Amino acid sequence: MSTKTKILIVMGTRPEVIKLAPVVIGARKRPDEFETVVVTTSQHREMLDQMLETFQIAVDFDLDIMKPNQDLRHVTTAALDGLHGVIGQVKPDWVIVQGDTTTTFTGALAAFYHQVPVAHVEAGLRTHDKRQPFPEEINRRLTTQIADAHFAPTTLSRENLIREGVSEDAIWVTGNTGIDALFLTLGSEPGETAPSPTGERRLLITAHRRENHGEPMERVCRAVLRLVDEFPDLHALYPVHLSPRVRDVVFALLGNHPRIELGEPLEYRRFVEEMNRAHVILTDSGGIQEEAPSLGKPVLVMRETTERPEGVDAGTVRLVGTDEERIYTETARLLNDDGAYREMARASNPYGDGRASEKILAALAR
Ligand code: UD1
Ligand code: UDP
Repeated sequence: MSTKTKILIVMGTRPEVIKLAPVVIGARKRPDEFETVVVTTSQHREMLDQMLETFQIAVDFDLDIMKPNQDLRHVTTAALDGLHGVIGQVKPDWVIVQGDTTTTFTGALAAFYHQVPVAHVEAGLRTHDKRQPFPEEINRRLTTQIADAHFAPTTLSRENLIREGVSEDAIWVTGNTGIDALFLTLGSEPGETAPSPTGERRLLITAHRRENHGEPMERVCRAVLRLVDEFPDLHALYPVHLSPRVRDVVFALLGNHPRIELGEPLEYRRFVEEMNRAHVILTDSGGIQEEAPSLGKPVLVMRETTERPEGVDAGTVRLVGTDEERIYTETARLLNDDGAYREMARASNPYGDGRASEKILAALAR
């Protein structure tokens, strides 16, 4: 009988590839201990392939489910159906899912139907508001109900799990594997960045959340327009998510300004460079809230709630919602007031030391 642990790693979207890459790379370096199989639902297509290429991850099964403008019912049913088939064929010892996407939840559910244990990477994040973010808060709560091993990034996420009745023995506090990916990419921990030689200040923007589609996204765009008009040294870079609901609004409102650069989603290493060059980051992303404290970059989060309060406590992250006036005022304050800027631009690592994947693999090998 084989003494190896057979793991099936499930991914569907850009952030899942980034955050599971360190686990896949680490496991594949230990072929005596792990048989590693990777399945992608391909809930994302181009954005997933871009990251698989960056991290050189070979995929064993690709379900290729993405449709333009897909709704949640499509992603849920197609992913569940496909993953159920793959798990039945591979018969792994563990199914590993990450985060809170629909791929994450359906991966856990399909494993449960086969009675295969589930390991949840990035477990225990909560806003405690079931509609925000939508549908991620429910995806991660349901995944918690199913999972057998919970890899919590911080002690706070561990406490959330314990409060919901998860046994302490089933929780490991590991840090976030996103920080492993960041350090892997930077070659080491980040250092100081040199100021721009042209004297421009760069604003980096990303936004994609479903609850921000429509009017909130329009308000974000109007705030960005006001900022570039008010600050002549400001250059805005917005690599636009491929969702048509995001692109239609962003290109219509921001497509015509000489100091607003709209582009395609950036390859991860290029995006990390841009985070490093940025003066301020405006985002509704989860992952960027975790990376920015390590880089010491002020992040204004265009959401009403966050499941990542550690970055807020560290001082690098501030919630500003999607009100146009508030986004404008808070960003303008950082651009006008050096003291306020320095207060936020402090590097810290609330999400771990870049060794999360090592700890996860050690637990799974046991
Ligand atoms: C998904 C996740 C969200 C995660 C985000 C990361 C769910 C419900 N949502 O949201 O939790 O934060 O990914 O970015 O799991 N598209 C492309 N090419 C791509 C990717 C997307 O064309 O490579 C377009 C397609 O038209 C697709 C649409 O974007 O139908 C939406 O993709 P989907 O995965 O449903 O939602 P996201 O908003 O990307
Ligand atoms: N990212 C990237 N290129 C981009 C925008 C983001 O590589 O153009 C990275 C970013 O550094 C982070 C992750 O993608 O690691 C965040 O993904 P996203 O915002 O799509 O999802 P979320 O984190 O909100 O689930």
